[in-house]
Amino acid sequence: MNKIYTLAIESSCDETSVAILENQEVLSNIVSTQYFHSIYGGVIPELAARTHLAAIAGITQSALTQANLSITDINSIAVTSEPGLVGALLVGSNFAKGLSLKYQIPIYPINHIEGHLYSGHLQENNFGFPCISMVVSGGHTTIFLVKSYFEYEILGSTIDDAAGEAFDKIAKMLGLDYPGGALIDKLAKLGDKDKYSFPRSMKNTNDYNFSFSGLKTSVRYFLQKNFPNGDFINEINNIAASAQEAIVDVLTHKVIKVATSYNIKNISISGGVSANSRLREKLEQETQRLQINLVSPELEYCIDNAAMIGFIAYKKHIQQGDNSQETNNQLNPGQLKYSVRSYALRAR
Ligand code: KG4
Ligand code: ZN
Repeated sequence: MNKIYTLAIESSCDETSVAILENQEVLSNIVSTQYFHSIYGGVIPELAARTHLAAIAGITQSALTQANLSITDINSIAVTSEPGLVGALLVGSNFAKGLSLKYQIPIYPINHIEGHLYSGHLQENNFGFPCISMVVSGGHTTIFLVKSYFEYEILGSTIDDAAGEAFDKIAKMLGLDYPGGALIDKLAKLGDKDKYSFPRSMKNTNDYNFSFSGLKTSVRYFLQKNFPNGDFINEINNIAASAQEAIVDVLTHKVIKVATSYNIKNISISGGVSANSRLREKLEQETQRLQINLVSPELEYCIDNAAMIGFIAYKKHIQQGDNSQETNNQLNPGQLKYSVRSYALRAR
């Protein structure tokens, strides 16, 4: 079979990313993060779109150069089509359409969450189905039952804030830069996770949904009550560790509960929050104890990146050549309404 070279584009939020894949192997994956949003405490949609526009052509050229290819070698284009910030998505989609028209290359619009869902597969060949897959990012906290690359269903989701949003909002209360998840992770390593007890909302409900807005409010009241003058600096590591533990505890508990209820021996995690060191540590302990196979993406593939978009596009590309398989793509915008709302909330 001839090799398929995919050029993948991701621009749904504040990362401009272009990747080149040879079949499912990543040849290059360039991610340019728009760090300047931190001065505003959140992503400014209009600035995100304009920055994508300024960056996308250069990053595409760099990705091709790094892969030692030219645009005429490419036979498939993948682009994130939803969900995300509308202006940001339009930049990627229109750029992809332009390349597709000019060079007559088929184009695959890819759902961003679908990209995250399989990002652990980029480095893991022995990945088994069925699998319980948890996507935890700044805009999403969703648990899927995944039966194959094209067959999955949502089992549970956040009913308010996403886990990453909770990290970011708590970080902001602690005076940390946006996005604050990785900074909380860093401070937490120096703190005592049991020093303060923050609520684990919906941990013991019978469904597989999450809620993180109560935790955020609880941290706010805790700070107002105990540090009315904002002088929490000597306690910041303990507060970060305790708040992080509340999030990680619920995430771990729920995903393990789903896997054991469905008697499934594969769990994968993905999205920016899956980079969290305490989440990885706790999940590794629990999955080892229960003899469950855990797949967590390399850090490069946890955050938004185009390689994950190219990977699932490649799977679709080869599937379309085989008419014996049926597509059963169960993601639709209606199901993802919380996620879309999260994007709106996340943006300032
Ligand atoms: O997947 P991602 O890059 O973008 C979205 O699709 O949302 O995820 C970004 C989110 C942010 O909320 C960020 O604070 C969080 O991932 N994040 C982390 C860590 N690294 C990134 N949260 C906790 N611990 C980390 N190490
Ligand atoms: Zn994402």
